[in-house]
Amino acid sequence: MKQKQSIKKAETNWFYSETVKEHFFNPRNICKTEKELAEFKKEANGYGITGSPVCGDQMEFLIKVDLATDRIKECRWRTFGCASALASTSVLSEMITEKGGMKISEAVKLTPQDIIKRLHGLPAIKVHCSVLGDQALRAAIKDYLKRQGKESQ
Ligand code: FES
Repeated sequence: MKQKQSIKKAETNWFYSETVKEHFFNPRNICKTEKELAEFKKEANGYGITGSPVCGDQMEFLIKVDLATDRIKECRWRTFGCASALASTSVLSEMITEKGGMKISEAVKLTPQDIIKRLHGLPAIKVHCSVLGDQALRAAIKDYLKRQGKESQ
């Protein structure tokens, strides 16, 4: 109940939940430098890049998928987006790698609403920021499936 009230509050004004703030100040799996990104790119088997038509910001997402299990073992991302994009993508990166890694078939079903729920809400005007990470992950999954010759999945 308390969580529902918090989400409602976040969606209807400029309220940022503690989870949003925590991920903004301590983003998980982020690449802070060009070198870090280049290094992880060598190990990754899925890469996606996207831009937001709403604000023009950009997001890159890399995944390392275990070929035997089709689970996402590691990921990295980088954005020139805002605080909400940082928090959204940070929490998304946790969601897909926790508990042994999410299967590709499950990760592809994630939606911005799943991310917002885990963040305990985002101001309505910032919802598009959560779409940025979601779309970049989708692009990385598409790239992974293409590399594996599984494009039809
Ligand atoms: Fe561009 Fe948030 S305003 S990602």
